[in-house]
Amino acid sequence: MEIGIKSGSPEKQRSACVVVGVFDHRKLSFAAEILDHAAGGYLSDILRRGDMDGKPGSSLLLHNVPGVLCERILLVGLGKEREFRDRQYREAVQLSIRQVADIGIGEITLYLSEIAVKKRDLAWKVEQAILAAEETLYRFDQMKSKPDEARKAPRKLTLAVPRRSELALGETAAARGKAIAAGVRLAKDLGNLPGNVCTPTYLAEQAGVLAKEHGLGIQVLERSEIERLGMGSFLSVAKGSDEPPRFIVLEYPGGDRKQKPVVLVGKGITFDSGGISIKPAPDMDEMKYDMCGAASVLGALRAVAELKLAINIVGLIPTCENMPNGRANKPGDVVTSMSGQTIEVLNTDAEGRLILCDALTYAERLDPACVVDIATLTGACVIALGHVATGLLANDDGLARELLHAGDEAYDRCWQLPLWDDYAEQLKSNFADMANIGGRPGGTITAAAFLGKFARKYDWAHLDIAGTAWKSGKDKGGTGRPVPLLVHFLAKRAENP
Ligand code: BES
Ligand code: MN
Ligand code: ZN
Repeated sequence: MEIGIKSGSPEKQRSACVVVGVFDHRKLSFAAEILDHAAGGYLSDILRRGDMDGKPGSSLLLHNVPGVLCERILLVGLGKEREFRDRQYREAVQLSIRQVADIGIGEITLYLSEIAVKKRDLAWKVEQAILAAEETLYRFDQMKSKPDEARKAPRKLTLAVPRRSELALGETAAARGKAIAAGVRLAKDLGNLPGNVCTPTYLAEQAGVLAKEHGLGIQVLERSEIERLGMGSFLSVAKGSDEPPRFIVLEYPGGDRKQKPVVLVGKGITFDSGGISIKPAPDMDEMKYDMCGAASVLGALRAVAELKLAINIVGLIPTCENMPNGRANKPGDVVTSMSGQTIEVLNTDAEGRLILCDALTYAERLDPACVVDIATLTGACVIALGHVATGLLANDDGLARELLHAGDEAYDRCWQLPLWDDYAEQLKSNFADMANIGGRPGGTITAAAFLGKFARKYDWAHLDIAGTAWKSGKDKGGTGRPVPLLVHFLAKRAENP
């Protein structure tokens, strides 16, 4: 879909469809009022008859409205003006796109960015309109023998900004929106691919494609090289599967040569059966998403490269399957991590931390400005924060604040949980330096406390995306989160290194 920014009066648009908003109690938005005036009160007449009330979710498509140049006008309900916030704005955009796509209208011009949204500026509204539109139109039909026909994306989406002087600002915001949307799409596609296609080998190949297209440096380590590095913890998980593991290193050198890199570490378990501590059968299919951390690192790097951000970034992806073969980790096994610390594997299903800890140790050699790991790490995080907020834990409050702020700006929010060392008590083992689980209480925090033992030498933050990386139920699918958060975080860092 082509995306453009425009300014100018709505009645003069030769669009196939101009979209304007109507608040509760039939109150016209500013753009709707202009159209109504040009059409001699046509819109207010219709609203007075009660055909549309402005409630959220309501809409009305009008043809051949007199006095305007567009073929159609779509009225979308915005609800109460006082309650119109960021979520309502995104929903209005999504409703508009859904209507237009369901009918198959080829082109659409949105007049929604003039509407006041509490605490959000024009750049936010432009970026979010693009993300919300792309979200609505996303389909994953790669694995179907015939593509789904249901919704047809419009050929072109035009976003109107209120003033000519705001065109440049609108274009910049649109560029960021498009880049993030492309990163989100990549992360969703990789997440949605089944485990028999999206293997560690496949992930490494896709990283290679990304590197080639965007001029990134890449190194893919195979089992023997991973052994040479001494990543005994990572390898203990990998050896339970016939699929060979990979350790992917991607470099985006956008910044000054001397500038320390931001290191992103993504959990890349391409299928998590639980291993010998096997998971119950219902919903086990969803464990193909256990590589969404890795996918978000790739998605974020794609966006960053497209935006040419002035920053150095290294992406690290340990990737393997967690399976229960004859060589698999057994409860009680003790493994030696790359750091030298030994780990008693009390539950083979707590495998994410076992592969991430070695990647965190590897990160030391990159002399990082900071390290952020992203992982579908704990079911406990889904219980604590649901599917709305990503869990955030950090050993540095400044870094945590940056991520909280980026999440808010990107409408891809995270929420901080405490990482006090009291929690690490739960990881004590009689037989090794630590156990890989800390019991049910505070499961998200003890998982982070475990990782924290491998992140002592730099500022580090952990994003637990178990609840936010995909949706279950009827609309099952990857969400592409936290790509928007990561891109905002990196963009801010690029501005003030
Ligand atoms: N990949 C899972 C976490 C997960 C579970 C993500 C459900 C999304 C939905 C992770 O590897 C795991 O199995 N964690 C265990 C840890 C436990 C054994 C300490 C969990 O959360 O149950
Ligand atoms: Mn697991
Ligand atoms: Zn897992």
